[in-house]
Amino acid sequence: MTYAAITGWGKCMPPSVLTNADLATFLDTDDEWIVSRTGMRERRVSHVSAIEMSVVAARRALACAGLDAGDLDLIVYGSCSNDEQVPNSASGVQVRLGAARAAAMDVNTACTSFLYGLSSATALIRTGAVRNAVVIGVELILPYMDWSNRNVAVLFGDGCAAVVLQASEREEGVVAQKLGCIADARQTLRVRGMGCTYANRNVMLGDTQWDFDGQEIFKRAVHGMGQASADVLAAAGVAPADIDLVVPHQANLRIIESVVKRTGIPMERVMLTVQRYGNMSAATVPVALVEALEEGRVQPGALLLMPAFGAGLTLCSHLVRWGERVTPLATSDAELPPPDKTALELVNAIRAQKVGAQERSGPGLMAARLAETM
Ligand code: UT7
Repeated sequence: MTYAAITGWGKCMPPSVLTNADLATFLDTDDEWIVSRTGMRERRVSHVSAIEMSVVAARRALACAGLDAGDLDLIVYGSCSNDEQVPNSASGVQVRLGAARAAAMDVNTACTSFLYGLSSATALIRTGAVRNAVVIGVELILPYMDWSNRNVAVLFGDGCAAVVLQASEREEGVVAQKLGCIADARQTLRVRGMGCTYANRNVMLGDTQWDFDGQEIFKRAVHGMGQASADVLAAAGVAPADIDLVVPHQANLRIIESVVKRTGIPMERVMLTVQRYGNMSAATVPVALVEALEEGRVQPGALLLMPAFGAGLTLCSHLVRWGERVTPLATSDAELPPPDKTALELVNAIRAQKVGAQERSGPGLMAARLAETM
């Protein structure tokens, strides 16, 4: 039997830090509300494209696995905030990595995109179609934020991480998974203004309105991730006590606490990044995984549980058996160029662009065009 072992890992976090105090300079919000309702203290703002972040993360993951880009058969790019729709983003990573032999595909299931990408690459390796793959979870979501809506603007951040998968005869990598979608709740999270149907109506980039029913998403997320985790544990015959570390989607500290409580796993066995990075959508789980490895929280042979949910509402829970190696074989010198603006300056530039877009089309016209696409 062939498995898909995770043999390389690397992240690329943009260095500009946006604090809760920064958000309070233009939103009616405060640190106390954000920390107590979400656990978030800061998040990152990218000054480069999502593909640039992906290339750095992928180079680091390849070095960690001891592979060259030319060894890759497949690049999977998990994201909902692609720089372009056509051509796909994975091909942009392929050309910059010089991974000439690799197939390249994008996966968009919103915040679960990395994990659905992991499922896809694992399946292709297990059938024998592919031997070496890189799976990326990346989000450059802040250019699409509605910065006038405090219900959502405080929650999200940019970031990226990648893993390398390699065919293995040992039982490693994804050993069980539960995937699902609560599509009757798809209207609870919609970014109007982001996508082809809007572009075709001349809605300008950045002029988004978020339909966001936070409480409904919260309830569905806790129930969906809890049920998916219970299902995957039962299917694999694994008890909650056998899970060494939970690496969950990081949308809200209270959601994570509720899910692991339902699953019967103590918080000491949960990897948290939500305080420092907020919700990076597809990037949250791989970044948390990379940091768990960097902090020595993944032991050889460890069993990991990775529950997640996202717009759709897609959900999943993956059971991952780690291999013997928990340290990189080598490191890469790939780096982002330094930013020339602070995080708040970057956000204020996005906000100014949005006002500019509205002025060019007129706010009434823009609202009508967004409404037409309901
Ligand atoms: O990855 C998928 C993405 N989706 C999610 O992660 C959403 C999941 N939902 C959540 O995380 C939570 O529902 C939120 C964090 C979004 C909101 O927390 P909540 O405890 O459900 O608060 P709420 O929506 O019930 O709002 C409570 C109050 C409201 O004021 P009133 O009506 O009680 O006067 C809001 O207007 O808090 C107000 N509020 C804020 N106040 C200060 C909402 N956002 C803010 C803010 N700062 N940023």
